[in-house]
Amino acid sequence: MSMPALAASFLTAAAVSALPAQGPDKGVTTFPNASGASATFSTAGAIDGGNPFFQSLGSNGRSCASCHQPATGWSVTPQSIVQRFEDSAGLDPIFRTNDGANSPHADVSTPEARRKAYSMLLTKGLIRVGIGIPANAEFELAAVDDPYGYASASELSLFRRPLPSANLSFLSTVMWDGRETFADPQSPDCIKGTTKCYASIPFDLADQANGATTGHAQAVQDLTAEQRMAIVQFESGLFTAQVFDANAKDLTIAGALGGPRTLASIGSYFGINDVVSGDLGDDMLSGGPGIDTVAFRSSAPGVTVDLNQGEASGGPGFDHLTEFENILGGDGDDDLIGDAGPNVIDGGSGIDACSQTGDEYDTHCDDVGERSGARRISREHCATWRKHYRIIHTGAGP
Ligand code: HEC
Repeated sequence: MSMPALAASFLTAAAVSALPAQGPDKGVTTFPNASGASATFSTAGAIDGGNPFFQSLGSNGRSCASCHQPATGWSVTPQSIVQRFEDSAGLDPIFRTNDGANSPHADVSTPEARRKAYSMLLTKGLIRVGIGIPANAEFELAAVDDPYGYASASELSLFRRPLPSANLSFLSTVMWDGRETFADPQSPDCIKGTTKCYASIPFDLADQANGATTGHAQAVQDLTAEQRMAIVQFESGLFTAQVFDANAKDLTIAGALGGPRTLASIGSYFGINDVVSGDLGDDMLSGGPGIDTVAFRSSAPGVTVDLNQGEASGGPGFDHLTEFENILGGDGDDDLIGDAGPNVIDGGSGIDACSQTGDEYDTHCDDVGERSGARRISREHCATWRKHYRIIHTGAGP
């Protein structure tokens, strides 16, 4: 696909309701962005601008698309929000005090006041999620210091970027903190060996759609069951990904697996992406289908893990590994080696050596040492990693 061919089906952020004719690839709509273009593939065919997703169903003029815009990966970017501010003098429906402003009490009487009131949204693309401290919080509130004068122990102000309302078939939880993920004792989707079972993602999403309408859109009435189902069906059929990069060019040809059609062809089910740890002694560990991680987080001694050889040693035992894509190291000084596919290798704490024996697709290794507060290897640096080229990463210090 070349850029001129893409241009025929470009859609601008503002034109959500006036969706263009489809390009030659039916069901795929393409959007320019700073580094090239992204595209959305809708399994239902054309993006249905008449879906309740695009309708104002509350009291403040907002629809789901106010914060989940097709042109920006079904989320928002600060640049697109600034544009909307300039076009509307800060009155576009995304600019509402309930959760668009830094504080619900902010002065929004003039354009200048609004620029100040919505600064988190304008500069970082963040919505204020106001919630109390969850019963199972892993933290205690020691003090409240909110420069915007609103947050309290009963309502924290959590500033969050809208998650994409696309690629939802890969979700295992809903929302940044998983709070729209419901337990269901009758469900077959359980954590192996436990009675922890979870409702389906479409069930969670139906509740989420209603919560978004009564919350973000300040509706006084709940959505009907039909509206919830229509929204969930619509968003569940959306796949979005970058298709064109200014430097790399077309991301869908010559063996490259970019673009939303590839995403849509990847199956997913509860538990497909496993994090597996062996116990003391020697184990045979298999990740199975999906993107699976073998974890040595609890190992004090350094481990040597080689996905190419399918072996791990030096830790709790000698393990045989099959079908793993990613590695999490432990507390010791680890030697972690990937295989020919794309790997994410996180060294944990300690002084870790990481090498990728794969090819140029192996660029996903910039998390090495990050969790120990250590120096982060930049993406640029990562991209130069080649077969048999080893980077020794010092896990501590600058
Ligand atoms: C005012 C902006 C705003 C509006 C309007 C809005 N959302 Fe969101 N949406 C967000 C934010 C912010 C989050 C992340 C919140 C969090 O995780 O705490 C989110 C999260 C989501 C998610 C979770 C995705 C995931 O990966 O877990 C879905 C799905 C979603 N929204 C769909 C919708 C739908 C459907 C509507 C309309 C009924 C809607 N949103 C309206 C801002 C908005």
